[in-house]
Parts: sequence; structure tokens; C-alpha cells
Amino acid sequence: MEANIIDGKALSNRLRESIKSRVEELKSRKGITPGLTVILVGNDPASAVYVRNKERACKQVGMNSSIIKLGEDTTQEELLRHIERLNKDKGVHGILVQLPLPPQIDPTQVINAIDPRKDVDGFHPMNVGRLVTGQACLEPCTPKGIIRLIQETGEPIRGKNAVVIGRSNIVGKPVSLMLLKNDATVTICHSKTSGLDEICRRADILVVAVGRPNFVDNRYVRDGAIVIDVGINRVDGKLVGDVDFQEVRQKAGWITPVPGGVGPMTITMLLENTLQAAQQNE
Ligand code: GUN
Repeated sequence: MEANIIDGKALSNRLRESIKSRVEELKSRKGITPGLTVILVGNDPASAVYVRNKERACKQVGMNSSIIKLGEDTTQEELLRHIERLNKDKGVHGILVQLPLPPQIDPTQVINAIDPRKDVDGFHPMNVGRLVTGQACLEPCTPKGIIRLIQETGEPIRGKNAVVIGRSNIVGKPVSLMLLKNDATVTICHSKTSGLDEICRRADILVVAVGRPNFVDNRYVRDGAIVIDVGINRVDGKLVGDVDFQEVRQKAGWITPVPGGVGPMTITMLLENTLQAAQQNE
């Protein structure tokens, strides 16, 4: 039987309607309009597209949004000065510095400089520490979206074997913690893992964030598994994920498409985080 498709675009649209009405309510009851400022450093074309999509999404739900564009040769000090100013700006509830950054800038220092209450990416060590210890925090957007996509299947996460391929700070590590928080038994795999296919075949939930087109095929997938494809790879001008969709959809129970799966959810969770930051820091 063919897998059910988990439609991230449809789920996103529903969630954005709800965010839009909560934004309106915050405006009318408290006179607060949630505001996101995105800083884009350099000329990475993919980053420019992502940043434009974030700005457009904010405007669609009635939030304020602005982009600060800085040149490829921007110094770390210049960038830190912008962040300090935005930390103090009462109209800015969320600050996002688009990654990757040019080599002269240390991303760790930049992330650490953002006020944790405005850290809508959830990358600041304060938010990461709160996530690890199970305290309320701003959660990173892609992992938060992945959990919502899994919940959308209606299958409980509790007690399931979850396997995550990828150990990045942006996706692999935080999504593993969030699956654990939801009572899954979690295995984290990476490029040095041996017997990867065998481990993946034990997964009821398989999250793939390796950044290699069509890396996961049927040999990695258990019958009926939930497969979440986090990859965004451009091959011959077309977007493809890390999962061989045509093959794996014959075996999985549920699968996210690329595009239209995790991608739209990431931006929707950014909107949720910006709204949360605005509600908490009036
Ligand atoms: N670049 C790719 N993904 C992300 C993300 O989630 N946040 C930021 N700031 N940059 C990114």
C-alpha cells in the first residue's frame, strides 16, 4: 500500500490562520504588533530566498517584519552592534540571524549575543539548556515543525522507536530531545554510524536530516514507518529531499514530501515563536 502523505503546506495554512487571529487579538487587546527582524549577511542566494519567504509569511499574518541586509565583508563587531540595538528595541520581539555566516564571523558569538527572550530560532544556550532540562523555552523551528507533522498522523509518539539521522544543533540534536520529551525511545545516527540501514529499519519514526539527495531508500525503512524528510537539495534545478520519495512511499506508512513537508512548517513555527515572544515580553 502507498504511504499517506503528511501535507505540511495544508497544516501550515491552517496554523497560520490561527496565528493571524491571535495576532489580531494581541493588537486589539494590548496594542502590540509582533515584530520580527531578520539579519542577512552576504550574498548566499538560497539564504536570500529563505529570508524573503520569512518576511512575506510575517506580513500575511499581520506581523511587522524587516530585513537588515549587510555586505559579505561585514565585521563581527558591526553585526554585534546591530544585535545590541535590536535587543533594546521594544518593537522588535524576534531577532533571527540567517545562517550560514561569512567565515570572518563566529556564529556562536553571534547567537550568544541575542537576547534569549528574542531568540526565535531557539539557538541561544539559555533556550537550548531549557529544552534539555524540560523547561518552557523558545524551541527551534524545524524540530518543532517536525513534531507537529508527526502528531498530524494521529499516531502516538509515546513508546515508539525513533531514529534521527543527523546531529546538527539546528535539527538533529534538538529534534532528538523533543522526541524524547514525547516519550519516544531515540537513537541518534550520523556519518560515522556503522550499520546505519539496520538501525533505521527498526524505526517506527525516521527523521532524515543528512543533506544528501535521495540518501534514504527502501533498505532503510520499516513497513508502515513514519518518515520525515528534512532535506532540501537542488538537483538539476529541482528541489529533492534526503529520501527517495518515489521508492519509500511504497513502503512507509506516512511520508513528508519535498517541497511541501517540513519547509513550510519551519516558517510557521517561526511565526508561532515570534507571537510567543511578543506575548511574553510586552
Ligand atoms: N539557515 C538554515 N536554517 C536556518 C534556521 O533555522 N535559522 C537560521 N537563522 N538560519 C538558518
